[in-house]
Amino acid sequence: MADHATVEAALRGVIDPELGTDIVDLGMLKGVSFDGRHVTVSIALTIAACPMRDQIENDVVRKLKALPDIDDVTVQVSAMTQEERSALMSRARRHARESAAETQVSPLTRVIAVSSGKGGVGKSSLSVNLALAIAAQGHQVGLLDADIWGFSIPRMLGANGMRLEAGEDRKIVPGVAQGIHLVSTGLIIESEDTALMWRGLMLSKALEQFLHDVAWPKSLGYLVLDMPPGTGDIQMALARLLPQAEMVVVTTPQRAAQRVAARVADMARRSFMPIVGVIENMSGFTTEDGRHYDLFGKGGGHELADDLGVPLLGQIPLDPYVVEGGDEGRPVVTAQPDSPAATALTAAAMRITELVPPAEDETCTSRIALLAEQLEQMAASR
Ligand SMILES: Nc1ncnc2c1ncn2[C@@H]1O[C@H](COP(=O)(O)OP(=O)(O)OP(=O)(O)O)[C@@H](O)[C@H]1O
Ligand SMILES: [Mg+2]
Repeated sequence: MADHATVEAALRGVIDPELGTDIVDLGMLKGVSFDGRHVTVSIALTIAACPMRDQIENDVVRKLKALPDIDDVTVQVSAMTQEERSALMSRARRHARESAAETQVSPLTRVIAVSSGKGGVGKSSLSVNLALAIAAQGHQVGLLDADIWGFSIPRMLGANGMRLEAGEDRKIVPGVAQGIHLVSTGLIIESEDTALMWRGLMLSKALEQFLHDVAWPKSLGYLVLDMPPGTGDIQMALARLLPQAEMVVVTTPQRAAQRVAARVADMARRSFMPIVGVIENMSGFTTEDGRHYDLFGKGGGHELADDLGVPLLGQIPLDPYVVEGGDEGRPVVTAQPDSPAATALTAAAMRITELVPPAEDETCTSRIALLAEQLEQMAASR
């Protein structure tokens, strides 16, 4: 059974974009009650007509639905009293002092981790193409190759020779390849072969560095993470380092693959990471004369999505160009935008940005609270 503490822990992933701290810390969570698998939470906003209201409500619902014992979520919204607003402001100020830049990733950046239970299902190919398709919608996009020693993103984005340099503050500046802000161990170490030397490195430590020591642009709307396969250290570290991270699970149509993928989803739930949805990759092959072959089985994506209670974001067909384009640094969504694989990828990217809309750069948890506080002071001094 879910309990108050679990709900609270999950809601620590709902962050005030401006303050970079969570709604629990800000004292906005006022109550939690359960009716079987239905949870009702009361959230106090600084003012009832908060422009961020929808975003906060949606984020709360997504976080809580990610919990294994919760099917339904009701959010009751109220407005804070004056004392509550002052308390919130002092907590916010304290937080701003204490936790200057825990990671360099802006709290306004939406983080999408592309994960799978097993290797070779197409995470890296999908990460690159989703990043480009999200960028084509007009967002600034970063791509973090979190596959520390199995990196493949630089080649896929045609950035093999690129080397990252340190900028001001001795922070590493992401490289820009095809409009995407890119960081990968492949851009730091000398050759793909020396990657083996990184095996001894603590992977979670490397991820931490990529989040702390990289000057990710503050204007990034989305950061896509290409995760290594499985459910290791890196996945757990991600949840700890970037509480706003959400997961897209990749699977093949094969029914057996779905059980493996479910393990990643289970890990995501234990670390309160919402699952945006499932993408089925390698979903059949259609020949030029229209004959269709389900080379890797059928139905796995639907089944996994149903099991997890999340949407199936897309089914990406097998397309030889994905391999060729990946090898040559010409990703299918931009190089062959009308192909079935590109169309499916672009549609999946659209679903992702609908479900995880860009964070709005306005807030009613701090700026408006401050305004309200000032108005009250003015009124009091009159
Ligand atoms: N839809 C597709 N059609 C054809 N080939 C594909 C498709 N998706 C991926 N591939 C190919 O499958 C291989 C594995 O893909 P990719 O490297 O993206 O998987 P991965 O999950 O990142 O693997 P790893 O777990 O090793 O990191 C690559 O050769 C890639 O080009
Ligand atoms: Mg990969």
